[in-house]
Amino acid sequence: MSVIKKCLFPAAGYGTRFLPATKAMPKEMLPIVTKPLIQYGVEEAMDAGITGMAIVTGRGKRALEDHFDISYELEHQIEGSSKEALLDETRRIIDKCTFSYTRQVEMKGLGHAILVGGNLIGHEPFAVILADDYCVNNDGDSVLKQMVKLYDKYQCSIVAIEEVPQDETYKYGVIEGVEEEDGIYRISNMVEKPAPEDAPSNLAVIGRYILTPDIYEIIENTPPGKNGEMQITDALLTQAKSGKVIGYKFKGRRFDCGSVDGFIEATNFTYQQTKS
Ligand code: UTP
Repeated sequence: MSVIKKCLFPAAGYGTRFLPATKAMPKEMLPIVTKPLIQYGVEEAMDAGITGMAIVTGRGKRALEDHFDISYELEHQIEGSSKEALLDETRRIIDKCTFSYTRQVEMKGLGHAILVGGNLIGHEPFAVILADDYCVNNDGDSVLKQMVKLYDKYQCSIVAIEEVPQDETYKYGVIEGVEEEDGIYRISNMVEKPAPEDAPSNLAVIGRYILTPDIYEIIENTPPGKNGEMQITDALLTQAKSGKVIGYKFKGRRFDCGSVDGFIEATNFTYQQTKS
């Protein structure tokens, strides 16, 4: 059994790239075919042996809480019909997991969202999933499960990384490090959203993390970074400077469902899979 028992889902962002769809609905409730992004994230955490789901929400995000709750009227309505099975997976999640929520009142960045979520986690290492990064691996362990296994060996913060085209580094946190094992980097430097010419590599951090609890104090003591936001990249850099962050080139595929193109790609991919 792994020591990682809780997963934090920062889900307070405005999702402006999906307006008007996200005007009154959380981006994390956008469905890939019939399942909302947040549910894929929760299933991935469960696959990694985690049952404590901690969600950082904000204004207009009530649907997230309702999704992981029983809907008596609806369930009664479809009871005994062929549609009953459509809610089986959601029911299984509700039965097996505990959900806790807290609100990020001001959207001051991902680092701040993680700090706010700390109330739900406590002093232990924990996972973070950004549900708008939708990850699939049809050939084995989910991305988070791969990372949890790695944590058991390295016992330090771990970020999932992937190679991105050099001209897209400005969208990501980008790492510099030494490859210690195949696909496993000891990170020495991290830069938030660098211009291609300033990027230390084309290895970008995507929305899967395992963080050690000292990260809270580091975030608190890290001044706001790019765009005046509390960046998790800046806090991780402090850990990285003492050799305490691993970058892991995960096995599988990631879709950037925070962008319309990535979302459509993920939808097409998943739809094809359900048909085959
Ligand atoms: P994004 O950078 O994708 O921002 O946040 P966003 O607001 O969700 O979307 P756009 O850019 O306006 O379209 C990355 C992740 O961090 C969370 C978001 O919910 C998303 O999962 N986040 C970001 C917070 O929870 N709080 C913040 O203050 C910022």
